[in-house]
Amino acid sequence: MLRATTAAALVLLSGASLATASEPSVSANGVTLRSVTITYPTSSRDFPGPGADAINANCVTCHSAGMVFVQPPLSKQAWTDEVTKMRKVYGAPVAEADVPEIVDYLAALKPGQ
Ligand code: HEC
Repeated sequence: MLRATTAAALVLLSGASLATASEPSVSANGVTLRSVTITYPTSSRDFPGPGADAINANCVTCHSAGMVFVQPPLSKQAWTDEVTKMRKVYGAPVAEADVPEIVDYLAALKPGQ
């Protein structure tokens, strides 16, 4: 019983190494580096729709719009606080004059949009 389990584990391990064997690799001093192929999840880079100019100009430098879309629906005050946090805590270079347009856009967002 134990032997059968070990054999199954060995098959799994050899299967795994076969899967990566086709990727390019380089070895030196007992260390092997292998290339792997990674598919990143998709993320919306920009904010869609009307009234998005200010938010696209100020809010996608450090992270994509997806960072906003995963938030729950928030009040205008909560979005104002969030924009203030981006500016004061994270140092986002957002012009004071753009803040009202950004907050209006955010407050009009529907969940999952
Ligand atoms: C200077 C870089 C920078 C800019 C520009 C920026 N952010 Fe962020 N933002 C961050 C960082 C850093 C985080 C935290 C990321 C983490 O926790 O993984 C963040 C997180 C967030 C989050 C997730 C909730 C939270 O508080 O962590 C939201 C929503 C958000 N940003 C909205 C905005 C909006 C709206 C703007 C434009 C006004 C903006 N960001 C511009 C750096 C920035």
